[in-house]
Amino acid sequence: MRILLTDPILSRFAAELSHDGTDGHDWELLAGRPDAEIEDRLREADVLVASRMTPAMAKAAERLRLVHVTGAGYDRIPLDDLAPGVTVCNTFHHGRSIAEHVVMASVLLSRRVLRADRLLRQGVWESVAVDPSVRLGGTLAGRTVGVVGLGEIGRQVVRTTTALGMRARATRRNPDAPLPPGLDLDRVDGDDALGDLLEASDVVVLTVPLSAATRGLIDADALRRMRSDAILINVARGPIVDEDALYDALSEGRLGGAALDVWWSHPKDGGGARGYTRPFHELENVLLTPHHSGHTLETFTGRAGEIAANIAKLAEGEALTNVVRSPV
Ligand SMILES: NC(=O)c1ccc[n+]([C@@H]2O[C@H](COP(=O)([O-])OP(=O)(O)OC[C@H]3O[C@@H](n4cnc5c(N)ncnc54)[C@H](OP(=O)(O)O)[C@@H]3O)[C@@H](O)[C@H]2O)c1
Repeated sequence: MRILLTDPILSRFAAELSHDGTDGHDWELLAGRPDAEIEDRLREADVLVASRMTPAMAKAAERLRLVHVTGAGYDRIPLDDLAPGVTVCNTFHHGRSIAEHVVMASVLLSRRVLRADRLLRQGVWESVAVDPSVRLGGTLAGRTVGVVGLGEIGRQVVRTTTALGMRARATRRNPDAPLPPGLDLDRVDGDDALGDLLEASDVVVLTVPLSAATRGLIDADALRRMRSDAILINVARGPIVDEDALYDALSEGRLGGAALDVWWSHPKDGGGARGYTRPFHELENVLLTPHHSGHTLETFTGRAGEIAANIAKLAEGEALTNVVRSPV
């Protein structure tokens, strides 16, 4: 089969994808090439491995059998423009990496490590040992994590935080849907219990997809329900949180801290390199990361292996895994 690979990160894993070039397929690496060139090459392609596809690419791809998205989100694939016979699959493997990021952010913020590091670099030894006004930090063990959404990320956050002695509770769309065995959750509720979760949690982790139902979910009212020493961690999508309301809560001391890995605009979309409009960088109770909580070697080797396995299944006529759009 002729396979086009346009995703820049997965291009680093071309050897894993093609089994060091021994899989018998013809791979073409087109990351960073102009859209017009990709459209042209798609006319002869059987498979596209990509994080993004334009409607014009979809229309040009007359022979295409499979679009394999390189992550979980397929919001940048024009499903309605694809030929009826095209299958679309996605892949995960990011949950554990993001859960470890959540733990790191929780510790950094609750122990005020960012401040201690900044001050010590300036020669200031701020310590409870020498200054009784310095606030004591706390352990994660014994505290409560509230997880909003209980899919790939949410479940790994529960596994990782409860392994450290935290108590976990969650909300999800379908609270009665079955869960994998071994998840140590105090309770699982539906959307209507979000307010209770916010009030009860020391750390709140957002892991829901962005949709009409979740846009602005964490607004001024929701933030008011959180404890003044609580930490909000957003590893889902920026617009799930109201940017102005969050900045106001943090800068006025109504919220303990926030770890923001996802943003209200994307630098590539012309929103500026920062992805936000309020001066979050001036606040020392905020951890800023450029959407990298899931960016580990393990995430991408896992994804490359799964994509390679699905391509082998397609070649053998076997059923594919993680199908998000079946041929119609
Ligand atoms: N920061 C990063 O690097 C990164 C990486 C990957 C993904 N993400 C983002 O994180 C999101 C979640 O990823 P995932 O892999 O965990 O997705 P997932 O496995 O599809 O899980 C999504 C969870 O959200 C719940 N949910 C959906 N709509 C909801 C609503 N209105 N109210 C409450 N819960 C709702 C679902 O509930 P049910 O289980 O009841 O259906 C499910 O438990 C993705 O959509 C993406 O935007 C970020």
